[in-house]
Amino acid sequence: MKHLIAPSILAADFANIQRDIEMINRSEADWIHVDIMDGVFVPNISFGFPVLAAVNKLTNKPLDVHLMIVDPDRYLTAFKDYGAANITVHYEACTHLHRTIQKIKELGCTAGVAVNPHTPIAHLHDIIEEIDLVCVMSVNPGFGGQKFIESTYRRIQELKLLAQGRKDALWIEIDGGVNQLNALPLLKAGANVLVTGNTVFSAENQEKTIFDLKNISTSTMTI
Ligand code: DX5
Ligand code: ZN
Repeated sequence: MKHLIAPSILAADFANIQRDIEMINRSEADWIHVDIMDGVFVPNISFGFPVLAAVNKLTNKPLDVHLMIVDPDRYLTAFKDYGAANITVHYEACTHLHRTIQKIKELGCTAGVAVNPHTPIAHLHDIIEEIDLVCVMSVNPGFGGQKFIESTYRRIQELKLLAQGRKDALWIEIDGGVNQLNALPLLKAGANVLVTGNTVFSAENQEKTIFDLKNISTSTMTI
């Protein structure tokens, strides 16, 4: 199965959001990654429902909504209604994670759990059968354009081991500091979704950058 590319609109030009979404529409991007930050769970505030609604109106690509917010349960139905296809909550923000996951699935969305760089992958042991996607944070959440954390490779391998007994495939999504240099090693380690913000939006040819990330040759991969 070919890996997926999810450009993060946090790095888009908000004064030209329609232009940037149309670029993603033309590109080989699979999902649009939407970072929701509340200024409490993370030290930054991004955007909320009106922006999500606008993005949803402009695209048919699935919206991959990454909730960096406390108490996400309060808003799950709203995010679904505003167009989320995937809803990812943070392990660190959910007291009753199992209940939260069930709710996301009841809504008909892909259920994801994101883990901060300091959270042991092993903490997903008792939830791994229930979820569709794990978002391995390769930066500390809150900002785009940060430096990739190298321990991510080991964490992907740990996650693959943990997921071995699953019936269905697991989306292993990497979020933060993904670029042309680490993309192939990440895929080799077992990632199958790459989120990419600044690498795409600061590129001279954004559409080609997405194309190149999508078409990285993994044919010589030895896993
Ligand atoms: C970080 C966000 C990321 C961010 C990625 O808190 O969750 O999705 O937008 O941006 P880059 O690729 O620039 O690190
Ligand atoms: Zn994100």
